[in-house]
Amino acid sequence: MNPAEQPGTLAQRMRHTPYQAYSYSYPHKAAYRTLPQATPLAPLWAQQDRSALFAYIHIPFCAMRCGFCNLFAMAQPSAALVERYVQQLLVQMRAMDGALGERHFARFALGGGTPTYLSAAQLDTLLCGARAILGIDLHATPAGIEASPETVTAERLAVCRAHGIDRVSLGIQSFASGEMRALARPQQNATVCAAIGLIRAAGFPTLNLDLIYGIAGQTVASLLASIDSALAFAPEELYLYPLYVREQTGLGKVARRRGAHTLNPIILAQSGDSRLALYAAARDHLRARGYVQVSMRMFRAPHAPQDAAPSYCCQNDGMVGLGAGARSYTASLHYSSEYAVARMETIGIIDNYLAHDEARFNQAEHGYLLDAEDQQRRYVIQSLLTEPGLDCAAYTARFGTACADDLPQLAELFALELVTQQGPLLRLNERGYAYADTIGPWLASNTVRALMAESGQPC
Ligand SMILES: C[S@@+](CC[C@H](N)C(=O)[O-])C[C@H]1O[C@@H](n2cnc3c(N)ncnc32)[C@H](O)[C@@H]1O
Ligand code: SF4
Repeated sequence: MNPAEQPGTLAQRMRHTPYQAYSYSYPHKAAYRTLPQATPLAPLWAQQDRSALFAYIHIPFCAMRCGFCNLFAMAQPSAALVERYVQQLLVQMRAMDGALGERHFARFALGGGTPTYLSAAQLDTLLCGARAILGIDLHATPAGIEASPETVTAERLAVCRAHGIDRVSLGIQSFASGEMRALARPQQNATVCAAIGLIRAAGFPTLNLDLIYGIAGQTVASLLASIDSALAFAPEELYLYPLYVREQTGLGKVARRRGAHTLNPIILAQSGDSRLALYAAARDHLRARGYVQVSMRMFRAPHAPQDAAPSYCCQNDGMVGLGAGARSYTASLHYSSEYAVARMETIGIIDNYLAHDEARFNQAEHGYLLDAEDQQRRYVIQSLLTEPGLDCAAYTARFGTACADDLPQLAELFALELVTQQGPLLRLNERGYAYADTIGPWLASNTVRALMAESGQPC
């Protein structure tokens, strides 16, 4: 068994690289399996608090397949396939309208893949559907869209803004041409600048820019130069992603061809990992320029708009995912279509999605059933790894027990000086944030860890 598969203590895990796995959501989708029997959605959602839901629409299409990317997406689909997909999303929205009954959405996002790969007319169709079928008032709801630079057009942005989208998240990764080659992402800086100009001209209140660190050939100086190029556009938010190289990705296949016996970040890092030094330099650079750290990856500018709308709490509330690859979360069941990175499997999953009728959309077939322990662990992981931290009083109000009793392993965070306690709040300190990708996987249950290991996912 390799170190990534051992539960171990946090101290043991911290002897390896901090970059063990991204706890984007718990449980990781690699723990999802075909459910023993299909679960009807209407009774499932009836038990759920539906007063502050998150609607997420997944668009699994891109202009290109970047070498580093392990998201559920396919490059250059046919125009007919994209149009069928958009129409099928409307069918799923109608099914969800019936299954959800009375509800209120507190957040909305179009994610991917690359949602701006859709035409302006297709974006309009989906946003009209979100309003007319799901009943989402996008003008009164924080609403975002993800974009890649070469797909940004004034027409597409105008449609999004007119519907009330207020946040655009743009993937850049790096401004250094050699680093973009190392990432296998064909992109010119002129395209990036033109896209940002269009986003600013369209008047979106929040612009987020994504950068990556840990790219082959990247140095502290070149990373800070990319950050400065991004800061020249005064983004309201900046995401700094540590590079993970995964199986089935272009970079993963190249590494294997060159003889890498593993892509497991823990084992690879034994020969040196520059990411922690890059991260620390980038974090300090952003802080010195007034950006506030919200999580290991996210930094927010002082001029970013404050969220006035009722908030969606990722620890508590329901996520309604629409589209192939989108995940939905209720308190007890997380479900989605199957997941893949390789092109043929991805196409198969999209084809299966397109073959669904409304009745089939009314049931969950693939997912993970959270027992009491996993619900508690999810709450702790989703809270602790981001500001303002884990509110132990809110945890007790939710579960009726103390988090220190339910997860005695939390004591190790104090022993290793990774957290501070401020009243009921348990917050990661600077060192704690640097180890967020170690702490997240360490907090996974044995069941989740075993399922992930079975899927070949480091955890
Ligand atoms: C949905 S994409 C962003 C929008 C758009 N598709 C694009 O690429 O510009 C989400 C972000 O995840 C990050 N990302 C994806 N795969 C990654 C990996 N293997 N390692 C680090 N960051 C990754 C990238 O920064 C990327 O911009
Ligand atoms: S990084 Fe973005 S554009 Fe590239 S393949 Fe992934 S989702 Fe598509």
